Amino acid sequence: MHAFLPAADCAAFLVDELQRAGTGAHLDSSTGFVHSDALPALPWLAFARQTLPEAAVVKDASINGWADQIITRIAGLLPDAQPWRLHLWPAYGEGRAGLHRCDLIRTALHERLKKRRRALLRSLEESDMPFLPGTSLVQAVLTGPDAGYISVSQAPQPVSLRAIISPFIGGDIPHAEDKAAPSRAFAKVIEAELRLGQQIERGQTCVDLGASPGSWSYVAIQRGAHVTAIDRSPLRDDLMRNPRLSFLQADAFKYKPEQPVDWLICDIIAAPQRSMDLLVEWLREKRMRRFIVTLKFKGTDEYPLMDSLKELAPPLCADFRLTRLCANKNEVTAFGVAAAV
Ligand SMILES: C[S@@+](CC[C@H](N)C(=O)[O-])C[C@H]1O[C@@H](n2cnc3c(N)ncnc32)[C@H](O)[C@@H]1O
Repeated sequence: MHAFLPAADCAAFLVDELQRAGTGAHLDSSTGFVHSDALPALPWLAFARQTLPEAAVVKDASINGWADQIITRIAGLLPDAQPWRLHLWPAYGEGRAGLHRCDLIRTALHERLKKRRRALLRSLEESDMPFLPGTSLVQAVLTGPDAGYISVSQAPQPVSLRAIISPFIGGDIPHAEDKAAPSRAFAKVIEAELRLGQQIERGQTCVDLGASPGSWSYVAIQRGAHVTAIDRSPLRDDLMRNPRLSFLQADAFKYKPEQPVDWLICDIIAAPQRSMDLLVEWLREKRMRRFIVTLKFKGTDEYPLMDSLKELAPPLCADFRLTRLCANKNEVTAFGVAAAV
């Protein structure tokens, strides 16, 4: 059985998404996780925040019981000298009780590893950087004080399933804060960069479609990139005056760069099909190396439209992601790295 943590308020949409992918799925209402017997053949789940492959259900475990069960699960699966990460987190309650319990389980686990598998303790790494092909991931999730899941994802699965297995605990990334940004929308571009493990960098070229009032351009400018911003309305005055920003008052759907750019960033308010068509056209025409594109939905009826993007975009990409970001409202963000330009 595989368990999936849905994005906030998205459990029903995640069940639909898995079912449309041909994998039976149901919501376990006692844990809030979605269960499925298979992983989807096309491994993109817009509404999953984290995936626990081959999840074992844990019941009635004490602190020591959890530590023992984690040891039992990893025994024989993780080679001593190979790096691994442990995501041990509470998916219940609001207070500190769950976190405290996880701390106690971690301490008990470390004591056991010190006695029985010292080499394994040495290869345990703390990081939320993208997984490397040799890294395994162990997840122990408490869905109540004494119940939950343990999942072991052996290398190289965290890399091959990077579109649905997050290096962030529970797939959660807190909203970035910057009061000087023109709007809170800037948090979306920061979160997509973190998930991708790549940032807009100094000297890179960036096209920002649907750019006004300018918080995505603001991030790119701060990083030292050169931005071509396209919108029907101008951006905030200071951005309009910035020598590294060129503004075009034009229809973003008609714009074509003269040569490939490092980043397409696109947050146009438009029907999701139009934004998906734009993304696929830019990928086919090899107009960009990397991309972050918001799909904006009205209601929920059009979510199935994303199924075609899951077929069309990945063959054109070295890395393709499709995720409801923590910073998204009724949106899903497509981001990734194009196949070599
Ligand atoms: C959500 S806002 C973008 C916010 C921006 N990313 C930011 O962080 O400040 C969407 C923008 O898309 C623009 N837009 C919608 N349709 C457009 C079109 N066909 N051409 C150019 N801009 C368009 C709107 O004018 C609006 O400014």
